[in-house]
Amino acid sequence: MMIVCAILFTCALAFSSVKANCRSQSPTCWDTGLQFPSTNESCYGADLCQCGNTTADCSSNSDSLTFIPDLNRSYKYLNFSNNNVTSISDASFFVNVSRDVEIIDLHSNGLTYIAEGVFQGLPNLTALYLGGSNHLTYRNLPSLLSVPGLLNLSMRCLNLGPIHLDTFEGVNHSDVVDFDLSWNHLGSLNMSVFQPLQNLTNITLWHNEIYELHTARMPTLDTLDMEANRLYDFPRTCSQPGMSLFPNLTVLSLDQNMIQCIDDPVCLPSLRLLSLRYNHFEYFATNTFSAVRFPALQDLEIMQMENKILSMSPSFINNSAVTNINFVWNNVDFSQDYVHADIFQGCTGVRFLNLGDNIFQGVSDKKFHRLLKPMEASLNIISLSRSQLTHISPKMLSRLRNLTELYMYANSLSSIPDGAFDKLHGLWKLILDDNNIQTISESTFSPKLRKGLRSVFLGGNTFQCDCNIMWFQNWMRTSPIIFRDYHYRGYRCHNVNNVTIPRFVLNPQACILGSGAATLTIGIACFLIIFLVLLIVFFRFRWHVRLWLYEVCRGRRRRSRVSRGCKYDVFVSYAEEDAVWVQEELLPVLEGEWGLTVCVHHRDFRPGKHIVDNISDCVSNSERVLLVFSPHFARSEWCQFELKYCQSFVMERDDVMVLVALQETQSRDMTGAMLAVLRTTTYIEWDEARDARQSFWGRLHVALDDPEEVQVV
Ligand SMILES: *[C@@H]1O[C@H](CO)[C@@H](O)[C@H](O)[C@H]1NC(C)=O
Ligand SMILES: *[C@@H]1O[C@H](CO)[C@@H](O)[C@H](O)[C@H]1NC(C)=O
Ligand SMILES: *[C@@H]1O[C@H](CO)[C@@H](O)[C@H](O)[C@H]1NC(C)=O
Ligand SMILES: *[C@@H]1O[C@H](CO)[C@@H](O)[C@H](O)[C@H]1NC(C)=O
Ligand SMILES: *[C@@H]1O[C@H](CO)[C@@H](O)[C@H](O)[C@H]1NC(C)=O
Ligand SMILES: *[C@@H]1O[C@H](CO)[C@@H](O)[C@H](O)[C@H]1NC(C)=O
Ligand SMILES: *[C@@H]1O[C@H](CO)[C@@H](O)[C@H](O)[C@H]1NC(C)=O
Ligand SMILES: *[C@@H]1O[C@H](CO)[C@@H](O)[C@H](O)[C@H]1NC(C)=O
Ligand SMILES: *[C@@H]1O[C@H](CO)[C@@H](O)[C@H](O)[C@H]1NC(C)=O
Ligand SMILES: *[C@@H]1O[C@H](CO)[C@@H](O)[C@H](O)[C@H]1NC(C)=O
Ligand SMILES: *[C@@H]1O[C@H](CO)[C@@H](O)[C@H](O)[C@H]1NC(C)=O
Ligand SMILES: *[C@@H]1O[C@H](CO)[C@@H](O)[C@H](O)[C@H]1NC(C)=O
Repeated sequence: MMIVCAILFTCALAFSSVKANCRSQSPTCWDTGLQFPSTNESCYGADLCQCGNTTADCSSNSDSLTFIPDLNRSYKYLNFSNNNVTSISDASFFVNVSRDVEIIDLHSNGLTYIAEGVFQGLPNLTALYLGGSNHLTYRNLPSLLSVPGLLNLSMRCLNLGPIHLDTFEGVNHSDVVDFDLSWNHLGSLNMSVFQPLQNLTNITLWHNEIYELHTARMPTLDTLDMEANRLYDFPRTCSQPGMSLFPNLTVLSLDQNMIQCIDDPVCLPSLRLLSLRYNHFEYFATNTFSAVRFPALQDLEIMQMENKILSMSPSFINNSAVTNINFVWNNVDFSQDYVHADIFQGCTGVRFLNLGDNIFQGVSDKKFHRLLKPMEASLNIISLSRSQLTHISPKMLSRLRNLTELYMYANSLSSIPDGAFDKLHGLWKLILDDNNIQTISESTFSPKLRKGLRSVFLGGNTFQCDCNIMWFQNWMRTSPIIFRDYHYRGYRCHNVNNVTIPRFVLNPQACILGSGAATLTIGIACFLIIFLVLLIVFFRFRWHVRLWLYEVCRGRRRRSRVSRGCKYDVFVSYAEEDAVWVQEELLPVLEGEWGLTVCVHHRDFRPGKHIVDNISDCVSNSERVLLVFSPHFARSEWCQFELKYCQSFVMERDDVMVLVALQETQSRDMTGAMLAVLRTTTYIEWDEARDARQSFWGRLHVALDDPEEVQVV
């Protein structure tokens, strides 16, 4: 029973590893490995036999049926298993059987004896199943193998024990091509015992505890299946260098043995399939499976080595004939150095590559590309399932231009980078179930790729159902046939209880701004906020800005001027009404803080001299003229004179006038001269606010120039 479980388990593992082909269903000891076509009516007794078009099934009537009843009809397949036929002593036993019968299942009948020649009345018989709970021995075998026309003989689970070398010597004419001796405790086997069976092509020897195998020349042998034995060495296949013992062998299965390496020369010129599941390989040396040893090898199964593989050398396969490589369930960490990046060198014809159940986390794109480089042009199907992949890069798979099927289920992928599969122009099957993928968006797959996809598995992912999933929902609704696993996996929303993606409902308003529009809105909002902040800052520091601008503009011209060595630094021209401001605000700074010599009319005009002379004296003896504009200035006759005088004076001297606007003056209140000056000269506004004052004084200082700086220039 344990063996049965082990086999079922092995097959289940393999099956789950590639949802594609499980090469053969491993039958159990009792199982014939064959299933007759179904029956639809009772055809003997109340319920003893069931019949169909081609089948008569009288199995499992151990108490009631000790003979084969006459069913008065033709059939090809007779199931008489699990009855109580303990011995078949003459041909009359089969007298009631249809002469058209081709296959008889007689397993588990408690059979101890079968006489010679009992099958001679059945000209079309080709296959006999005699295994299970029967008690036959090797003495019965020569006559069974000699049944004319018999091609398949199955003798499983008979506990036959080791075969003696002379067992089949009495057979001089056997048509048997397929001989099944599984579960018979053969132990040690010398294959020369099979040599009398000249038409034998298939030998099945599962679960025989064979620890010792002597091979012999068998030119007709096509398939040798030695699954689940105790072989330590790869069978000897050369009789002498280059001469094969099995020139026609195409399938060799050595699954579940204890083979560690293939050291001896190999002579298997026709071998197409080599299966080495569950062996003890630790090192794969260069050229282990090379074209020199296996020139016809197409399928190579190196699976379930458990944690035994310690190193893989470059070019360990090195065989361009190989089209399928099954390297699943080896737990090999491809990111480590013991897996050389060139292991697949020479495998230029690989179409199917299963690398599932190994470790691909941390394998760089560079190593990945180098690993698969030899088969980039040929590869059709790749599996990287259960490989602990946490992410894939957009470029990882891009070079596999012939890829049609991609298996990456049961990894930890949380997203698919946009365009990761877009270069795979022939991709039609994409298996990504049981990852942590949260969403699929319109940009994940290009429209061209989507058009080619015919089968996509995405069940068991942690989908986040929100606005972002709506596009995918629409794709699922419009192309339900693509999502093959939907009806049994459901595509659940991870964030909403008991809701699948197609059933997920969201208020249309909630997503009215598609993600693109949302980005745009956020962008505009950000821009507005920044603009507003800048505006506020600018307003708060407007005076500083103006001072700075002023300095920048003035600064360029300032350097060209040279002090003329005047008596006054500044002549201040102002209206009488603004005298208070001049005395209390302006002079303390100009004279007190900046140490300028200032000429103001109320103090510095010489009495007795004509006012016009005073003005001209003062102006011509001052470096600068500071005009204090205000409505009063506009109305003051003398101010206007001073202004006009300065204007004509400025024609000769550059950069003399400095304008200060004490109060806002409407342009209609201004004189033509004032307007003319304002057009050509920037003015400095006075404002009581603290910042504004700071700016005013700063700008005024620059305008009047730092005398020291002037000297330096
Ligand atoms: C014959 O019948 C037995 C029991 O009903 C069944 O297990 C077995 O598979 C059948 N054999 C064939 C070849 O169908
Ligand atoms: C079983 O199938 C055969 C052939 O199709 C038919 O003739 C027969 O009536 C069927 N019997 C029953 C019980 O359906
Ligand atoms: C018998 O054969 C007929 C025609 O070939 C087919 O329709 C029917 O399903 C078969 N019956 C059974 C039980 O296989
Ligand atoms: C089988 O048949 C033999 C006689 O041929 C009988 O002694 C035995 O009890 C039967 N076994 C069963 C399980 O019916
Ligand atoms: C042939 O079948 C009939 C009835 O179906 C039965 O009575 C007879 O014993 C059978 N003959 C043999 C040799 O089993
Ligand atoms: C056998 O079947 C044929 C027709 O198929 C019928 O004529 C004959 O009577 C049947 N014989 C018996 C013994 O049932
Ligand atoms: C045996 O098989 C052949 C070919 O398949 C067929 O023509 C013949 O009717 C069958 N039955 C007998 C009794 O030979
Ligand atoms: C082997 O099979 C062929 C037909 O395929 C047949 O002619 C030949 O007799 C068989 N050989 C023996 C030894 O039975
Ligand atoms: C022999 O085995 C091969 C492969 O396992 C299979 O395809 C073929 O049908 C078998 N031949 C016979 C006569 O059973
Ligand atoms: C080897 O196989 C080929 C094709 O399968 C066949 O023609 C040839 O007869 C076989 N050789 C032997 C010795 O069986
Ligand atoms: C690509 O795959 C197809 C089969 O899908 C095959 O016919 C073709 O030869 C492959 N291309 C290369 C370069 O191997
Ligand atoms: C989800 O569905 C399951 C079974 O269909 C049910 O037992 C469970 O109460 C449901 N949960 C919610 C939150 O509806």
